[in-house]
Amino acid sequence: MALEGPIARGRLQGKNAIITGAAGGIGLETSILFAREGASVLMADISNLSLERALAKVKELVPDAPRVEAIRCDISKESEVQAMVESQDSWGGTDVIFNNAGIMHPNDADAIDTPEEVWDLTHNINVKGVWFGSKHAVLSLRRHKKSKGSIINTASVVALVGSATPQLAYTASKGAVLAMTRELAIVHAREGFRFNALCPAPLKYSTPPRTSSQSDKLICDSTPLLQDWLGDDMAKRHRREVHFPTGRFGEAIEQAHAVVFLASDESSFVNGTDFVVDGGMTKAYVTPEGPPAAAPQSLGR
Ligand SMILES: NC(=O)c1ccc[n+]([C@@H]2O[C@H](COP(=O)([O-])OP(=O)(O)OC[C@H]3O[C@@H](n4cnc5c(N)ncnc54)[C@H](O)[C@@H]3O)[C@@H](O)[C@H]2O)c1
Repeated sequence: MALEGPIARGRLQGKNAIITGAAGGIGLETSILFAREGASVLMADISNLSLERALAKVKELVPDAPRVEAIRCDISKESEVQAMVESQDSWGGTDVIFNNAGIMHPNDADAIDTPEEVWDLTHNINVKGVWFGSKHAVLSLRRHKKSKGSIINTASVVALVGSATPQLAYTASKGAVLAMTRELAIVHAREGFRFNALCPAPLKYSTPPRTSSQSDKLICDSTPLLQDWLGDDMAKRHRREVHFPTGRFGEAIEQAHAVVFLASDESSFVNGTDFVVDGGMTKAYVTPEGPPAAAPQSLGR
């Protein structure tokens, strides 16, 4: 029997979406998939030049995207987050926000050695930034009298399992994202606004090289890519890789596919979850041996 009603072109058709941390990694892959699924996408990042490159990439890969724009925003500043969300008022208001930007500082360490300024910087971005994004998304959804909305906040598997290689400020910040998201989900459930936390496992990918302009300095100093940080230190790499049942790190695009689901109406009854995308890492006791399973290709690089 044929399906009745209009056939939607994409899974996010008609939705206005904001993605923070959109200049690279998970944010860029998600921007590409959102545009491909028919969303109008506002890409936000603190890094202007990386953002320009990322915007060009999305436009190149999805030339028929309904609308893709970029805005510079430091998510740790409420006025900038408010301006970012309100800039979508003229689009018809925000339907989806992916509060994804976050940092892991190179000087983040254990209880003894983590400098207080690293703790504060990490929490200002990773926790306050997600709070501001959630707050202004709710205000926008109400302002536009929307009866549904999806807010996805990026946490991490380190919010669920302890790591013997410490990064205490980061771990605590991601635990806060998880708890905050769960409570927001319950508070706003009767308004139709869903909140879910994405918990990625360590990823393998390479974000385009960053620039050294003033605004980018913070990022250069604050977000070493895991793979760069591991370099060719095989012992350090193995210490992590051995925990993956699949025998490999995750790819950013695998996170992005999960975010498409959480953003779409397909997940209408998924709310308040710790949405774990980790290849089974947090469920493994002893892991298999043998060659790693195949990984999908990322789009943004
Ligand atoms: N890469 C991993 O292994 C991994 C694992 C678990 C969770 N995560 C989380 O995933 C999210 C995305 O990170 P990624 O892995 O794609 O890394 P990434 O460094 O490639 O992307 C993070 C983006 O956030 C931006 N950003 C940093 N501070 C900002 C600020 N104050 N305001 C606006 N933008 C800012 C950066 O410029 C960058 O483009 C982060 O929250 C991170 O903690 C990553």
